[in-house]
Order: sequence, then structure tokens, then C-alpha cells
Amino acid sequence: MCGIFGYVGPRDAVKVTINGLKKLEYRGYDSSGIAGIKDGKIVHCKEVGKIAVMESKANELNLKLDVAISQTRWATHGKPSRVNAHPHFDNDHTLALVHNGIIENHSALRKALEEKGSVFVSDTDTEVVAHLISSNYDGDILKAVQQSLPVLKGNYAIALVHKNHPHQIVVAAHEMPLAIGVGKDETFVSSDTNSFGSQVQEVVFLGEGEIAVIKKDQFSLYDSSMAPISKKTKVMAQQMEDISKGEYEHYTLKEIFEQPQSLRSALLSRCLDEYGTAILEGLNFEVTELLSVERILILACGTSLHAGYVASYMLEDMARIPTQIEISSEFRYKNPVIPPRTLVIAISQSGETADTLAAVREIKAKGGRILAICNVMGSSLAREADSCLYLRAGAEIGVCSTKAFTSQVTVLTLFTLLMARMRHMSKGQGSEILQALKKLPDQVQTVLDRHDEIQALAKKYSHHDNFFFLGRHFMYPAALEGALKLKEISYINANGYPAGEMKHGPIALINADCPSITLLANKATYEKMLSNLQEVKSRNGPILAIASEGAHGLEKLADDIFYVPETIDETAVIPTSVALQLFAYYVAKERGADIDQPRNLAKSVTVE
Ligand code: G6P
Repeated sequence: MCGIFGYVGPRDAVKVTINGLKKLEYRGYDSSGIAGIKDGKIVHCKEVGKIAVMESKANELNLKLDVAISQTRWATHGKPSRVNAHPHFDNDHTLALVHNGIIENHSALRKALEEKGSVFVSDTDTEVVAHLISSNYDGDILKAVQQSLPVLKGNYAIALVHKNHPHQIVVAAHEMPLAIGVGKDETFVSSDTNSFGSQVQEVVFLGEGEIAVIKKDQFSLYDSSMAPISKKTKVMAQQMEDISKGEYEHYTLKEIFEQPQSLRSALLSRCLDEYGTAILEGLNFEVTELLSVERILILACGTSLHAGYVASYMLEDMARIPTQIEISSEFRYKNPVIPPRTLVIAISQSGETADTLAAVREIKAKGGRILAICNVMGSSLAREADSCLYLRAGAEIGVCSTKAFTSQVTVLTLFTLLMARMRHMSKGQGSEILQALKKLPDQVQTVLDRHDEIQALAKKYSHHDNFFFLGRHFMYPAALEGALKLKEISYINANGYPAGEMKHGPIALINADCPSITLLANKATYEKMLSNLQEVKSRNGPILAIASEGAHGLEKLADDIFYVPETIDETAVIPTSVALQLFAYYVAKERGADIDQPRNLAKSVTVE
């Protein structure tokens, strides 16, 4: 995780850098810092908390810098504290360095450097990189960086300034994204090009093991052996999105309410009604290749994983393609068998999740083909995959994923439809799926319009500290996702469980203090769910049911019922999830949590 932003140019380097860094706050926000050179000396400011805290300190100190590097941190090694915040320095403060990633051999390096006289002040792995580079410095900073990098195990994107080279930033990357942004007489560096905004016209991504020296009007790129490389810059696609909160109190609420629009956008020009199938621009696999797919492997983390579960059920049910789903962080440490004709689908809102990227690279090394389902244009995953289907959900700022999830399910449903229609699914069945998809934006709007009912339910249940979310078949991933939302933003212990599995242990936890949110919108398993509700009720567990309009037999079992518009089982996860997002939001509000930036989390997890 963590975000890096740096600037060399004629403008106020502190202001420009902090403004850039704020756009990276989604990558971590427990502490931040900035450093640069002023009058031949390294000067810095670091603070615990959000970037605004560091910004006001920098203003109070009237900090002025000629070049600047900065970082927003999500703690891995060492708790959030001023001393652990980046940048880090060598003994004599000759250089300042920021780092994203993890240096796995930091303990051994620290010991070796201490023996040579380094004195460490922080608990971080990053500080060893600053000392290591300094120990290799003999007047040539580029050489010192190049000699230091092969010693590092792990992954990194680093940026550093050295007081003897006051007009430049040196950067390097290994398995972590870092981009150089070229402006008019000014140059930027960032871990995410979206933070550049309109001040940057062209970008260059650092490739594996590459090092660059960035100056105000030029940059030089080198490979790991220091051979100069020339790379073409790419024109930066300007994103003119509105990323203000508008009338909403939180980004999360705004994004929940944006879903009718984000779903329309996910579907736009992708439905081929005449043939009852989908047409997916960006899917640049040949028809023959798609037809020859015999297995699908889905990789993802967090909310994207839950969308992946829905897709895995659909791909088997509808397209009859054996589909396996794996948590990226688990998959990468297996020695996976990837049979020929396997298509790998990597799902990631940000396209920067380290575990998913690592799993994708492992598969690519084995010759596998990757389809990315991603929201962020130009992200690492989008660039590295063989093909990418974009969610078109617009920027998602709230740390807990909401609109991206429903768009992921929608795009994956379209992809499944295409694969199914290429095989044996009839046009009539395909049209039914399309009709259901097209109704979703209005159905979601219906749920949103009744937000006050959900708010009242949230108020009623918000004092409980333990919840179960129960569902079967398509409602099982919905239960996982509903529980994750509640955990993430209201810090309540919530377990998503397949309802049929409750009796194998978890039911022991059911009592009057542990409500179950039961999800009944999957018609195929409705009757079975009623039996599970009986079991919970017999043990005095409070029950809030989310069911489709027209469902019968619930009234005597559930304490509260919220009805969502009826749809087919494959798409039922969407209205149900929107209701659960609102539920989590209002519970979190009742409990006074920091909804957009919950404690300990980051929007994009760029470390293992
Ligand atoms: C983090 C976020 C989650 C997200 C997960 C995967 O944990 O807080 O909301 O679901 O990463 O992110 P991705 O960008 O790969 O979908």
C-alpha cells in the first residue's frame, strides 16, 4: 500500500506535492511525510494521521522546498508514528527516501549496516534502504542506487533526493507501480497516474528493475545494469470526473446512491438484444480462443473475490465451464496446475492489489491468458492482462467497495452470457438474462428510494456486536459481502456463512444478542432457507430477512423483513447487496465510525 508523489519544477514544491499526495490517500492514511532540499540541506515534515494533519504542520513551519518527495503510509513494519512515517534518512541526513512495498530481508540488512555504523531510528524496513544507498555512495547517487537494488529482497517503488544532487529525484521500481509524469517545464513521479491530473500531459511507467533520474525538464531511464533505455511517453488520458462528495455526507453514501448510473454505464452498448447476447469491447480474444476455453480460474481479493464467487457460480451454471475461484494471496503460494485452455479472470477494482498482480504474473510466467475485470484505466492489472473489461463505475473513493462490486457482478454476468451463448444457451434464455440485467438500475433505485426504512432497521440493530449473514447459492457471496461491509465500516464482528453450514458449529453462537441477517432472494434455495430461519429462531436469534417481493412464509419467522424487487437468481445479488450496503452505512453512522476511511484499512492493498 502507501502512495508516493514527487515533484521537480518551478512551482511551490510543497504545495504541488501535497496536493498530489492527497489523491493517493486511498492507498493508506495512517501517517504521511514530505522531504526535499532547501539551501543544500534535507528538510522534512512528518505527521501521524491523515495528510491534512501533515499539511497544516508544513504550513505552520512555512516549509519551502526546491524539489520534494512525499508518501502517505499504511503501516506494515512499525506502528503509525512520526518516526516510522516516510521519508527516511541515513545517519547524516544526506538523503531522504520514500518507499512503497516490503523489503523482506530488512532484518539481515539492518544488522549488517549496524555493524558498519548505521544508527536506525525507526522500526521500518524502509530505513534500511536509505542507509544502504548511503553506504554505497561515493559521489555518484545513481551508481549507489544501482548497486543497492540487487541486495533488496521483496518489492519496492522508491524515490529519493540527495543533498549533493539538489535538482533531481532518483526513482526505481520492482513489482510496484511508479510513473513519471511530464508536464510543461516540470516533472512528477507518482505511484498512480490518476494523481497527476491535468498538469501532466504525458507519462512513462517504470518497467521491472528500472531506475530513473528525474529533473525539471527531462528524465533519464536506465535498466538494472545502468544501460540507458529510451521509452516512448504515453499521452495521459485526462479523467474529468467529478470526485466531490456533492450533497452527500460521505463518499461511501454517494457511491451507493450512484449505482443506478454505474450499472447503466456497465451495460451501455454491451447488450446485443437481437441475438440475446453480450458484445464486449476491449475483449480482444479471438472467437476461436473463447470457444476453446475449457476451464476458468478466477483470482481476486476482498470485495472483488465476492464478485468472483457470483461469477464462478454463473459460469458453471450458465456456460457449463468448470470454474475454480482462488483467493489471490493463497493461490500465489501454491504450485498451481494451469491446464491448457484455461482462461484466468483477475478481478480488481483498483488493478493494483499486490496479491492479485503477483498471482497474475505467476500465471503469465506459466503461459496462461489473463482477462482483467477492472475499474481503473491504465492500472497495473489493466496493462499487464491480455485483455481488460472496464467496469466504467467512475472513481470509487470510499475505502469500502460498493458501486464497483455491483458493476463487477454486472460485467461478469455479461461475460458469462457471451460464453454461454457461444456454447449451448438458447437465444430465449440469453434474452431473459439481458432483460433482467436491464431492469437492475431501476430496481436498485427502488431500494435506494427506501433508504429511510433501512436506516430505521440499522438503528434498531446497531447496538449488537455480533452478526451472522446467511445465504445459500447466489446469496452466499451476498452474505460474505454484506458481512464484509459491516465489518469494514462499523467495526462489528460479522460472519458471512452459507446457511446450510451453520449447524456444523457456528449455530452454537446464536442467541438473543446475535442477530442473523438472512438473505432469501435466491428462489432456488428459498424453502431451504426457511428451515435455516427456523433453526435460528428456535435458539432465540433475532432475524432480519432480505427477501424478494412476493416471497411468502417469512412473516412468522423473521423479526423484520425488507423486500427487494424480484429478479432472476443470477442477478439477485445486486438489489440485495445495495440494501446491505445501506444497512452497513447506517449502522456505522449510528456508531460514529469513520465511514470513508475506516481504521486500519486502505482502498488499495499494494503489499502482500
Ligand atoms: C482492499 C479494499 C477492499 C477491496 C480489496 C481488493 O482491501 O479495502 O475494498 O475489495 O482491497 O481490492 P481490488 O482493488 O483488488 O478490488
